[in-house]
Amino acid sequence: MCGIVGYVGRKNATDILLEGLKRLEYRGYDSAGLAVMGTEAKLKVVKAVGKTVFLEEKLTREPATGQAGIAHTRWATHGVPSEANAHPHLDCAGRLALVHNGIVENHEELKRRLEALGHRFVSATDTEVLAHLIEEHARHRPFEEALCAALKEVVGTFGLAVVMVDQPRTVYGARRGSPLVVGVGRDGENYLASDPAALIAHTRDIIYLGDDEVVRLDDNGIETFSLDRVRVTKAPETVSWSLQEIERGHHPHFMVKEIHEQPTVVRNALAGRLDARQGMSVLGGLKDVDERLRRAERLTISACGSAYLAGAIGAMMIEECAEIPVRAEIASELRYRKPIFDANREAFIAVSQSGETADTLGALREAKNKGVLTLGIVNVVGSAVARETDAGVFVHAGPEIAVASTKAFTAQLTVFALLAMHLGRQRRLSLAAGQRLAEELASLPEKVERLLEQDEAIRLLAKKYSRYPSFLYIGRKYNAPLANEGALKLKEVSYVHAEGYAAGEMKHGPIALLDDGFPVFAIATKDSLQEKVKSNVQEAKARRAPIVVLASEGDEAMAQLADDVIWVPRTTEMLSPILNVIPMQLFAYHLAVARGLDPDKPRNLAKAVTVE
Ligand code: G6P
Repeated sequence: MCGIVGYVGRKNATDILLEGLKRLEYRGYDSAGLAVMGTEAKLKVVKAVGKTVFLEEKLTREPATGQAGIAHTRWATHGVPSEANAHPHLDCAGRLALVHNGIVENHEELKRRLEALGHRFVSATDTEVLAHLIEEHARHRPFEEALCAALKEVVGTFGLAVVMVDQPRTVYGARRGSPLVVGVGRDGENYLASDPAALIAHTRDIIYLGDDEVVRLDDNGIETFSLDRVRVTKAPETVSWSLQEIERGHHPHFMVKEIHEQPTVVRNALAGRLDARQGMSVLGGLKDVDERLRRAERLTISACGSAYLAGAIGAMMIEECAEIPVRAEIASELRYRKPIFDANREAFIAVSQSGETADTLGALREAKNKGVLTLGIVNVVGSAVARETDAGVFVHAGPEIAVASTKAFTAQLTVFALLAMHLGRQRRLSLAAGQRLAEELASLPEKVERLLEQDEAIRLLAKKYSRYPSFLYIGRKYNAPLANEGALKLKEVSYVHAEGYAAGEMKHGPIALLDDGFPVFAIATKDSLQEKVKSNVQEAKARRAPIVVLASEGDEAMAQLADDVIWVPRTTEMLSPILNVIPMQLFAYHLAVARGLDPDKPRNLAKAVTVE
């Protein structure tokens, strides 16, 4: 997997494909390649290991010209990063080229069969099998039929693009479980991509392909059909993202740009959703299911990565406000357990920035099968989670480009607070408590702004701590999952080992690790458990661990215990993670930069994990 771009039109396909790949670079990748169809009925395939600039350099030496083609950035799943394993992959005759995201689970079985039929494989990828499988089917039938027949044999997931020399002005795309969109251009130009971000420099009119749908782009336009070759009519949706939102501007990295967008992000997540007088939240996306939500007696939240940690905090918010049991579960675990759902009295919430994470979708489908009401807390409009849930709330964080989630996480927490308020007011949360919550929520953007003013101070702090090999992050209650998020950010972008722990658990293991070379980052803002966190900080200090604390503005007593302090504006306990996360993001970002790393493209990570 990683990024796919396709183009048919009148311009030089190579330029458009390369530009599209660059816009997808943020998703993480280890090699890149493209196939362009020239006029002489030949495919020109060029690949390079590493950054797309290497591919670009290679293309200056070996130009590929044509008006249709496909391109790919690869994030290795089967086979090491190498030119042979980079996409596009070809059939034996070299007449067909294919790029693919997803996993062909039955590739070994298919490969054995195809090898027995004389096909020769040159890569260690699961993808290559698709090229040969289509070639095999095409011996007996027209190309389009062959493509559909081959895809019907696939067990697993695909978002793919194919070109073949016999149809030099045609690009095919197909999807099952891995995103693929069509960009509707003008003057006979059309595009394919795994992410609309690759296309919005050209068009904002996007068609989202559904599972087991195929699309043909050619001089006659765009035609979508099912694997049974039944035509499917699809209307384009307009993406609201602006080009500016997907460009870095004056910021050195997307990650820091997105961290600094958070006052606006929180404002946008709240916009039009707070009724301060009634102490209520107005969530239009839940209107149709409101009565079912009112009857819900329990909730399950499921997600991956940072979205899961937002869910774990959201679960506490809802329990506190609505007084119903809520469990938060890692999607890759939930989907393969035997989760007990109560179809009539339960609702399920999938949380996802991209809306395309394979495990989150797996858990969502499991819940759907059990007849549970499903909701989505999603950033990307039109994504699979958004489409497949019964209802939901968009977080409106705008495009998140940096691999490590920052602004989407904050927006998810903000939406959870609104949801907790909504479910609470449907139940026992009083008008006065709702009003206080609304007031406090409305004051958050300005407090986030105040936190961001400490950017330079946090940069110096991160520099000071940049040589330690390990960190322990601790916090309690709402800030226990947040300690995990702080540690996750540091791991992701700076490759420094970090663990997040519920502070009370420190004495049950991790304290054994502490000494003067193992700093502790404690979330110790004023709340009902601050005294307990203080004791934990003292325990760490007694082991000579360097201590960084997040302390509420003016809390000198807490600051005195620490080697370094980051001041956080005061808010309620429930909303505190929305503020506390900001300095932790900045700390991770600056620590990565201090270590000479590019935080936007952490090694081995991908923005949207569309494979299990
Ligand atoms: C990847 C990203 C994380 C993200 C997680 C879940 O691991 O690198 O930043 O939190 O996927 O992604 P989702 O799009 O479902 O929120």
